Amino acid sequence: MKKTSRRQPAAMRTTAAAFPNLLAPIAIGGVKLKNRIAVAPMQEFMSGYEGEVTEQTLGYIGARAKGGPGLVTSGVFLATRLAAQFPMGRSMVLYHPGHQIGPTLYAERIHYFGSLACAQMSPGLGRQCTPYDPDALAPAPTADLPYEIAREKAFDAFARTLSADGRARMVTVGPMTRELSVAEIRREQKEFAGSCQLAVLCGFDMIEIHATHGFLCHQFLSPLTNKRTDLYGGEWRNRKRFLNELMEVTRYACQGIPVGVRISAEEHMEGGLTREEMVDVARDLRARGADFIHLSDGAGLEESGHQIPDADRAEHMAEHGIAFKRDLDVPVMVISQHDPVKADRDIGAGKYDISALGRQLLCDPEYPNKLAQGRAREIVRCTRCNICMLRGLAGMYVACPLNPELGREYLLDRYKMGAWKRGEDVIPKSWDRAKMPALEKKPWWREEVPLLEECWRPFRGPGPR
Ligand SMILES: Cc1cc2nc3c(=O)[nH]c(=O)nc-3n(C[C@H](O)[C@H](O)[C@H](O)COP(=O)(O)O)c2cc1C
Repeated sequence: MKKTSRRQPAAMRTTAAAFPNLLAPIAIGGVKLKNRIAVAPMQEFMSGYEGEVTEQTLGYIGARAKGGPGLVTSGVFLATRLAAQFPMGRSMVLYHPGHQIGPTLYAERIHYFGSLACAQMSPGLGRQCTPYDPDALAPAPTADLPYEIAREKAFDAFARTLSADGRARMVTVGPMTRELSVAEIRREQKEFAGSCQLAVLCGFDMIEIHATHGFLCHQFLSPLTNKRTDLYGGEWRNRKRFLNELMEVTRYACQGIPVGVRISAEEHMEGGLTREEMVDVARDLRARGADFIHLSDGAGLEESGHQIPDADRAEHMAEHGIAFKRDLDVPVMVISQHDPVKADRDIGAGKYDISALGRQLLCDPEYPNKLAQGRAREIVRCTRCNICMLRGLAGMYVACPLNPELGREYLLDRYKMGAWKRGEDVIPKSWDRAKMPALEKKPWWREEVPLLEECWRPFRGPGPR
């Protein structure tokens, strides 16, 4: 009779000592992460109608931070007034001081549970959006170019729903687009940089520019979506111009704060961006001061199979890491490496530096703590069923068949903050690090207009003067 093995699979025989690389600290632009596990940016579809942070958003992010990752990246914040008119269902917004309260509480909740906070900031979603005004044309690099989703390129659960549910077909074709003018591009870039300064004021430790899977920055890069003939389109260096300038202005605006960029490692579309081209993009960004590169994958909605990968498609991310690391002297983060044993081995082998986890941390936010406490066998492994994403695309907050708390964290006291502690510093650490020049806004912000030394109105407040 065949003897059955009583040995546990590799991933189950683990103690904290088995993850020396994944649990090792790392510095990004002078800011130290306690380990190399990051919460990947995820729009969790829990914000209010106009992009406000809600009590549930805070409970959700508290649970992710309490799980013990070194870094928590926010879901995407739309960072200009124009971008905010064209969200994806329900995206958070941050482009005006009046928006700061929600993001401030958000960063505080992350800090309260001992992690660092990175704001993912987007200059817009381009053609991949759902405009508030259904007749509005989405601002994009190129006019008259809506996206179209083909079932063969969609992730599994999405493809299944497209066949079964007529209503899901509403998202298979995007809105019509209009071409952003050069003047608008420059205005948007500057407003974006100012919004990144707001994120720093809210207490975020780092900024991540959202330039990945098929959204606005990516649309400028790709020959499939950029058909312009001016200085922002056509030849390669012109298609890189929008993102390069955005990096430059953000670097200038947020001195002292680590700024990184999330890009797709390649497009996986015929005639689309190749890995060699994307390595070139990363090199340009580094030359302009990027402190980390965060690799996702795929062309966006038209090719969501790599954006939200199954296990096979996620497999090659480590190889992408090698290709990018070869040319970069800053940390490289890669997505979707759910298996901690493999992730630890790959980081140890120098294939990439940080493991960014999305769905796995929706499914089990305690993953980092479980590794650190020798409880790896208790990790609830994500099955990549994609019900989280599917619910999001249907306009509902994310939920998970394996995590009964997801989406209802606001009901649980353990993810709430307490009052300020005696002696606790009420000034965010990011303020100490940041050196943020005033960006030119209206004439009175210009350097040549001096600050008044004395007020011309006599002081009439109470007390001696
Ligand atoms: C519900 C959901 C929302 C997402 N929202 C964002 C987002 O706002 N910004 C972004 O860059 N990626 C977003 N992603 C992509 C993830 O960050 C991640 O790259 C992807 O899920 C693959 O990693 P995973 O296998 O660990 O989930 C989202 C993914 C999911 C499942």
